[in-house]
Amino acid sequence: MQPIISISNVSKTYATGFEALKSISLDIKRGEIFALLGPNGAGKTTLISIICGIVTASTGQVLADGHDIVRDYRAARSKIGLVPQELTTDAFETVFDTVSFSRGLFGKPRNPAHIEKVLRDLSLWDKRNNKIMTLSGGMKRRVLIAKALSHEPQILFLDEPTAGVDVELRRDMWNMVRDLRETGVTIILTTHYIEEAEEMADRIGVINGGELILVENKAELMRKLGKKEMLLHLDQPLQAVPASLAEFDLHLARDGHELIYVYDTQGERTGITTLLRGLADEGIRFRDIETRQSSLEDIFISLVKDRT
Ligand SMILES: Nc1ncnc2c1ncn2[C@@H]1O[C@H](COP(=O)(O)OP(=O)(O)OP(=O)(O)O)[C@@H](O)[C@H]1O
Ligand SMILES: [Mg+2]
Repeated sequence: MQPIISISNVSKTYATGFEALKSISLDIKRGEIFALLGPNGAGKTTLISIICGIVTASTGQVLADGHDIVRDYRAARSKIGLVPQELTTDAFETVFDTVSFSRGLFGKPRNPAHIEKVLRDLSLWDKRNNKIMTLSGGMKRRVLIAKALSHEPQILFLDEPTAGVDVELRRDMWNMVRDLRETGVTIILTTHYIEEAEEMADRIGVINGGELILVENKAELMRKLGKKEMLLHLDQPLQAVPASLAEFDLHLARDGHELIYVYDTQGERTGITTLLRGLADEGIRFRDIETRQSSLEDIFISLVKDRT
């Protein structure tokens, strides 16, 4: 199937000369939830802003549902809903009017029933006649989401939607995201919360220093997460892993003083017993043993640290 968003060689150098994105290429699949993970300043908002036509790319091309986001801006933008990272709302308007007006901006005919549904889903219906400035921070964030959904977009971007949001709103938001996905909406979110990406996303992309350094199915990352390492401190250094132990995923470290065995905790058996027997048969003795499990957080931190 044709990707719903296709990003080819997009780079961005800001007027200050700062290179915020370095040739990003990425396809977003129709109907998936894609999480973009990265530290502060990685380029997440820049990338989203380019796709939404708020920032102009220095090079490259983006297609949204087949429409070039520059040449065919209106058609592309009408497919997209954006919940921005920063709270920006018109303070003096009422909730209902703000959200209705957003729909009009995309040239869609008035549809009070749809606006009502969106406001009810976000528990904003009671506040529909309130001026925005009288709402709490969390409610303002809900209004931003309502605005993004006002024109029934096929693609929804959520830029740090749960930063500074309470547990209840976070749960409501994730339920809403799942419901939207059920209706076929494609969702791209950025988050600092790795657990959130772990819970919500079908695929995860890691961005750092303007480079997309990894794009993987969550299931595949979870498989990596299931990996464990056993570290054996050897009595005598080894030159090479003996051929009789070739079936094991073994690596030598620290000039042959350490033997590292990587195994899958989710596998049927770890192979540790057989390995230890094999080591004894080879006359390889060890002084100490340690095990260590990698988490998505470990993977993320090591990926991001390696590059800086
Ligand atoms: N208008 C601008 N002019 C110059 N530099 C900018 C501009 N906007 C962003 N940058 C720089 O580009 C880099 C990427 O910023 P961006 O907002 O895309 O990061 P981010 O990944 O969204 O970070 P955060 O997690 O903090 O939201 C940062 O170093 C930022 O300072
Ligand atoms: Mg950002």
